[in-house]
Order: sequence, then structure tokens, then C-alpha cells
Amino acid sequence: MAVLVTGGTGFIGSHTVVELLEAGEDVVVIDNFFNSKPGVINAVQDITGKGFAFYEGDVADKEILRRIFRENFIEEVIHFAGYKAVPESVEKPIMYYRNNIDTTLSLFEVMEEFGCRRLVFSSSATVYGFPEKVPVTEDFPLSSINPYGSTKLMIENMCRELCHADERWSVALLRYFNPIGAHESGKIGEDPNGIPNNLMPRILNAASGKTPMLYVCGDDYPTPDGTCIRDYIHVVDLAKGHLAAISAVREKHGALAYNLGTGKGYSVLEIINTFEKVNGVKVPHEIAPRRPGDAAKCYSSPKKANKELGWKAERGIEEMCRDAWNFVLQTHIR
Ligand code: WQD
Repeated sequence: MAVLVTGGTGFIGSHTVVELLEAGEDVVVIDNFFNSKPGVINAVQDITGKGFAFYEGDVADKEILRRIFRENFIEEVIHFAGYKAVPESVEKPIMYYRNNIDTTLSLFEVMEEFGCRRLVFSSSATVYGFPEKVPVTEDFPLSSINPYGSTKLMIENMCRELCHADERWSVALLRYFNPIGAHESGKIGEDPNGIPNNLMPRILNAASGKTPMLYVCGDDYPTPDGTCIRDYIHVVDLAKGHLAAISAVREKHGALAYNLGTGKGYSVLEIINTFEKVNGVKVPHEIAPRRPGDAAKCYSSPKKANKELGWKAERGIEEMCRDAWNFVLQTHIR
């Protein structure tokens, strides 16, 4: 019996594979390295001392999926594979619809063929659009504010309708807030291909000199220091949330949405200042204009996940900042 992890060499996927292996689960991974590197496979094996089956390929390819299900007894699937860059999705919406929806439809079809109907889906807080207030709870209105978010919302709706049509399905929809940090070993972390969009990889680039400056996107928001507030969550806490979700889909049926966040909000400047303090390095930064589409504040209420999944984020922003920098120091990705 195994858990299939699509996109399992990516940032959140690789950390989740580590937690699954360390919990004694058998794991199978499929990835096409669109936003990850083959070295992650050895790094995960080094961390855990355990192996796992790996298939290089695209999740949209039903033939490779059928091969995986024929060669392994897959009981659950954790579905990370998908494009996730918001600005790129605005420029290339069709590419995002085609990739993120195609992969998911192929996965549904092959799972159904093999009688595997337990899924943990990598959703996102972006399905809340611009929340009218904070903290955000799972019953807030859902909307899409960019094509990336539209694909997440479309897939959530597909999961809800699938579970309504066939009660044998059980799906956990995990809405991530802002994952940052890295495994304490420093062997895996956030190492996107190409130019990163998110705050922490850009902080790392500025701190390591890979880029000359970090630009803070606006300091005129209605927040204490004028910069945007987000719910940053340690990627290891997030990975552990997936383990809890696997237990939930083994026991329950239907589509269940959960916020995976800390319930605390920190501003951009607070993250930068914490990063500099815990690591003893400077992050060259200056204020720039607002980034279109940014909400002033977005942070979670994780009470439903705390209660129903028995999961709670434990790591603070100091540990997130320290582990993120340690990954750079250990792997010299400068
Ligand atoms: C965080 C804050 C920026 C870069 C997005 C997606 C979300 C999820 C996480 C996938 C914002 C500020 C950023 C920079 C900055 N992705 N910032 N300078 O936008 O909250 O969420 O990533 O699931 O779905 O929407 O994260 O890290 O891009 O930005 O000042 O160079 O950092 O303005 O306030 P975001 P982010």
C-alpha cells in the first residue's frame, strides 16, 4: 500500500515525502522537474534513510499514471503537481488552465479506473480572493482573482462535485497560506527554477547577493508599518498537515476544506527584520510601488484543522527564517 505524491520533488512536495517516509508510509512520486531538480530525490533519501519509487513524467499522461497504478498498490494520492506563479498565470492563462486542469482530470480518471478514491489536494488561500476581514475561515466566500487562483477554485469545485456524485470519494482540500522555510537539515528547501515570485526566495537572493536589492511592494497599506500582512507557515508544519489529511481521508468521505496556516499575521518588514536578526545578515531592500492584486492583510483561522485534523503549526517566524537561510548555506544555491 502506497501514497502517490504528484509533484513530489517540489518545495512542499519534497517536505511532505520526508514526513510520509518518516511516518512509515510507502511513497511513490511522479514529477517532470518543471519547477524542481532531480537532486531532491537523493536529498530526501539522505534525510530519511529510506527509498521510494520515482517516475519521471507529466501527470497529464494517463499511460504513465496507469503504469504507476499497475506497478504499485496506490491507496491515496497527494496532488501537488501544477503551475503556481501568479504573475505568469496572468500573462499565460491558457497555459495554466490547460496544465493545472488537464493534470487533475487525468488523475481523476485513472484513480477511478483503479478504484482509488482518496485524494489530498494542494489548494491555496488564493481561493478566498480579497477577504473582507481577517482571520479567514473556511466558510468565507470563494472567488478567483487571477488565473492561477481560478484553476485552484475550479479543481476544488470539481472535487466537491465528484464527492457529491460518488460518496465513495474522500478529498481533503488544503488551503495553504504562505509556506516558507526549509527542512532543518538544509538538504531540501525552496529552490524554484527561474526567477522566483514569492517574498522569501527573493529575500534569500538579496541576502546572498544573487540579486542586488529586494523591493518591498508598497508601504502605504492600512497596516501598522504600511506593508502587507501574511500568514507565513513553516513548510515542515505544512508537510505534517498533509500527513494529518491522509488520516482524515482514510476515515471520512466527502470534500473537506482546511486552512493550513498559523493564525498569525506578519508584515513584509517584520519578516525582513526577523530574517536579518536571526541570521546576522543584511537584506538590502527599499520601498517600491504596490504590486497589483495584493491584499493588505490575509491570515488564517486554523481552528478547523486544529480540531478536525488534530494538526497545529508549531514553528515560529524565527525558525522559518533561520531554516530558509540554512538551506542556502548548506546547498550554496547562490
Ligand atoms: C507576500 C508578500 C508581497 C515579493 C502568493 C500566492 C499564493 C501562494 C503564496 C501558491 C506580499 C510582498 C513579495 C517581493 C514584496 N502561492 N513581496 N517583494 O502574494 O501572499 O501569495 O504566494 O500557492 O497563492 O498568491 O505571496 O510571497 O508573493 O508575497 O514586498 O519581491 O510579500 O507584496 O505582500 P502572496 P508572496
